[in-house]
Formats: sequence, C-alpha cells, structure tokens
Amino acid sequence: MTTPVIAIDGPTASGKGTVAAAVAKALGFHYLDSGALYRLVGLRAAETGTPLDDGQALARLAATLRPRFEDGRITLDGRDMTDAIRTEEASRLSSRVAVHAPVRQALLDLQRSFRRPPGLVADGRDMGTVVFPDATLKVFLTASVEARADRRYKQLIGKGFPATLTALLQDLRERDERDSKRAVAPLKPAEDAYRLDSSRLAIEEVVATILHWYAMTAAG
Ligand code: CDP
Repeated sequence: MTTPVIAIDGPTASGKGTVAAAVAKALGFHYLDSGALYRLVGLRAAETGTPLDDGQALARLAATLRPRFEDGRITLDGRDMTDAIRTEEASRLSSRVAVHAPVRQALLDLQRSFRRPPGLVADGRDMGTVVFPDATLKVFLTASVEARADRRYKQLIGKGFPATLTALLQDLRERDERDSKRAVAPLKPAEDAYRLDSSRLAIEEVVATILHWYAMTAAG
C-alpha cells in the first residue's frame, strides 16, 4: 500500500497552511509546507545576489537546500528562518523564483521525500497536479481576495509586522496573477480536486470538511 497523501492547493492566504497543519495533526500525519521551500530559495537568492531571472543558477541553489522542519520551526544550515520566510519581501521573492521550471524540478525529490508513513498532508500550488498526482484526496481551497487580504493583514499585525490592507491587496492580486499565468505548474485545481470556498467558513469548519472527505475517500 502506498502512503496516503492529502494535497491542499490554493491561492495565497486561502488558509491552506493553517488548515493543512491542523488536518495533519488530527490524523497524526507528516506535514509539508511546500511554499516554505520556495521562500527559502527566494531569500537565499537575495542573500547570494543571484539574479531572479537566472533559472539555472536558482535551480542550483534549490538543489542544495537542506531545510529542517521541527516543532513548527524551520532551520537552514543551522539558522532559524521561521520568521524571515514570512515577510512580504520573502513572499514576493518566492513567487519570482517559482516561475522557473528548473527550480521546480530541483525541488521535486525533496518534496516527495516528505511522503512517509503513516501519511502526509502537503500544501501549495501544485501538490495535486504535479508533485503528488496520485494523492488520496485533493482539495482546492479558495477565498475571495478581500477575505484573504483581511486574513493576511491580521496574521502580519498579530506577529508584529507592519502592514497595510491596500498594499496587501495589491500584493495578493499580483501574486495570484503571476502564480496562475506562469507556464510551468500554474495554480489551477486538479481535475479530481474537491473545491472549497473558505471565505465565510471558520478554520475549524474547513478542517472538519476535509477530514470528512478524507474519511469517505479512505473508506472508498
Ligand atoms: O502562504 P502563501 O500562500 O502566501 O504562500 P506560500 O504557500 O508560502 O507560497 C509562496 C509562493 O511560492 C507562492 O506565491 C508561489 O509562487 C510559490 N509556490 C509554488 O509555486 N508552488 C508551491 N507548491 C508552493 C508555493
């Protein structure tokens, strides 16, 4: 039997991260935050002065990435990057490096190595379409752009980061556009994905819905 995977994809600030972590916890599964990998590549590119349009050079950075995910913290080469990857600058950098096919290719094995018993919940843009096309359950989580900007605003302010709603709305729209229009692995629901609009749902309701779908699929 192959190790089950729940793939949760969707646009920025749709709540994927929180929901995926909660679903993983409820099932005792591992959790892969694939966006964190693109964020780390983006930050490392900025640090090393690697041009954001040089897909091959960025892919070399991505291929040597050995992040550690432990107790909700992310470390890279001994440095705690948990907060650094959540800044708006890191968000912008991540979606710039993510457009390159060689970068995406370089991260494939690393992402798949998270698939270990008893199971994996993976969140991102292409979990159900490219990385785990045989996922047990695929969910495409959306929310209106206003609901998403509002959530991101509260999240940033809550962490003590400066933020304005207008700037966030603009950033969300730009990233949505870049993520959906790119040639490789664009953001789109897998054909067999269950779609869920979370604009008016509490996190607990979204988590409960996904757990219900998974129970049905697993019993299937
Ligand atoms: O939390 P948020 O949805 O804003 O971002 P994220 O999931 O951490 O992803 C950051 C960026 O990485 C996205 O804007 C995408 O451009 C890229 N990404 C991707 O291309 N493929 C993935 N599987 C995950 C993220």
